[in-house]
Amino acid sequence: MKALKQLPAWNVLEQHYRAMRRFDMRDAFRDDPRRFERLSLRLGSVLLDYSKNRITPDTLTHLMQLARESALESQREAMFSGAHINFTEQRAVLHTALRAPAHPPLTVDGVEIRQDIADALAHMRQFVDALHQGTWRGHTGKPIRHVVNIGIGGSDLGPAMVCDALAQYAVDSVRLHFVSNLDPAHLSATLAGLDPETTLFIIASKTFTTLETLANAHSAKAWLLSALHDPAAVSRHFVALSTNTQAVRAFGIDPANMFIFWDWVGGRYSLWSAIGLSIALALGWTHFQALLDGAHAMDQHFRNAPLEANLPVVLGMLGIWYANFWGTDTHGIFPYDQRLRLLVPFLQQLDMESNGKNVSHANRRVNYNTGPIIWGAPGTNGQHAFFELVHQGTRLIPTDFLVAAINPTPLADQHEWLLANCLAQTEALLKGKSRAVVEAELVAQGMPRRDARALAPHKVFPGNRPSNTLLYQTLDPHTLGMLIALYEHKVFVQGVIWQINSFDQWGVELGKQLAPPIRHALDPDQPAGEHDGSTLGLIADIRQRRA
Ligand code: F6P
Repeated sequence: MKALKQLPAWNVLEQHYRAMRRFDMRDAFRDDPRRFERLSLRLGSVLLDYSKNRITPDTLTHLMQLARESALESQREAMFSGAHINFTEQRAVLHTALRAPAHPPLTVDGVEIRQDIADALAHMRQFVDALHQGTWRGHTGKPIRHVVNIGIGGSDLGPAMVCDALAQYAVDSVRLHFVSNLDPAHLSATLAGLDPETTLFIIASKTFTTLETLANAHSAKAWLLSALHDPAAVSRHFVALSTNTQAVRAFGIDPANMFIFWDWVGGRYSLWSAIGLSIALALGWTHFQALLDGAHAMDQHFRNAPLEANLPVVLGMLGIWYANFWGTDTHGIFPYDQRLRLLVPFLQQLDMESNGKNVSHANRRVNYNTGPIIWGAPGTNGQHAFFELVHQGTRLIPTDFLVAAINPTPLADQHEWLLANCLAQTEALLKGKSRAVVEAELVAQGMPRRDARALAPHKVFPGNRPSNTLLYQTLDPHTLGMLIALYEHKVFVQGVIWQINSFDQWGVELGKQLAPPIRHALDPDQPAGEHDGSTLGLIADIRQRRA
């Protein structure tokens, strides 16, 4: 495979970009009344409108040519069929298998995995049913009422986001809580008000070596034992989700109470595996299954639809267009759906931990930008906070707006206003407001022309700013599964184009290595050790404050 910039389509896109620099979407809509139909895609209840982008049919042709020259189709097949596409860790990447039907068989590294997946799901389901039916009880015989998921990163963000988003589907008998931060404030605040006799802890950690999770797990165990005074209580109040049986046993959890998954499930892609136990406990098995089915529907689409009609491919390639040709650095995500308030933190890990890389599979530093900075917040809150910069700032910011046609909790006409605001923002980004219009408005309001002329530039909206809109019927488990898988595959597409490994995360290691000696140095009786001047200064200051 040639380096990205050596691919013929890259060159074509560079020339095309030069020709597009003055492209104005407003003209394009005027000239083509069918632009919306041409530049939108539907899958199930999800509509992707990508017509408000700085693109022509030629742009898409060139972008899809780049995808083909990048071997996207064969890479996609390699992922689905279990090849070791995580090439720096020599692992398959098979979160898609977790949500696929049990047939046909799929062999990975000589092992048929479909049966393993079915067995793991059956184990989870058995436990969910037992807890909901009250046959799994706490040590003192009381039913479990509160479940605390202790995990971080991929062992927290996905399940926490899904449970929050689908709270309206939650069962009554049990309440889920999520603790991730090493800061003791997080666990303490969660435990306050919980009864150890009716609380179950899920220790969620792929590796079972993560500092934050183990620290919180040990504190939770101490909290439980200080109330129940019997080490045997651990077996009724702690379960583990992990790939590391040895470490689970060493912590004191019986491997019979361990729900397994495999090294071919990346942490940020793991909510479909045993890591989703908290989701199944919160929502019940039927809704968890619907989530998996929604993701599978998106997988099928991603695997089989032609590139031009493929939602994740189109979203991914639009991101390439902006990041690599227009030079954008960030991507805004604005769910006009309060239930998706945790989507942005989830997508931050999914996208930035996957594509925040600078070395290609040729083991060389890349000479182009890779993953964007993902940011955003739910609408309409963002409008009253940072949208100023999106509309009038100097940077071009590609954006995704997500909104449901129907809200399950209608209050008066609030949802109508929510929808209207979502559409109004994308319209404002597109249309903008010219200086002439602003000036005329000011004069019409009675402002002297001279003053109006001076003020007008401040009130101009440049417009021609891009957005995608993802419109769905309502946020149910199936739709949420589709949306999450859509973003997973978008990230995959971009990783293939950038020729990076989207499935490792070596960039998190250095900080982990440096923390223990600093932890040691905070002890005033220990030498401060060898650190840079700033770190030494900070250590000294902390020691002094605590002296
Ligand atoms: O440090 C980053 C990371 O490894 C993420 O990739 C992962 O999701 C998170 O930590 C938690 O890891 P684990 O599930 O092994 O505790």
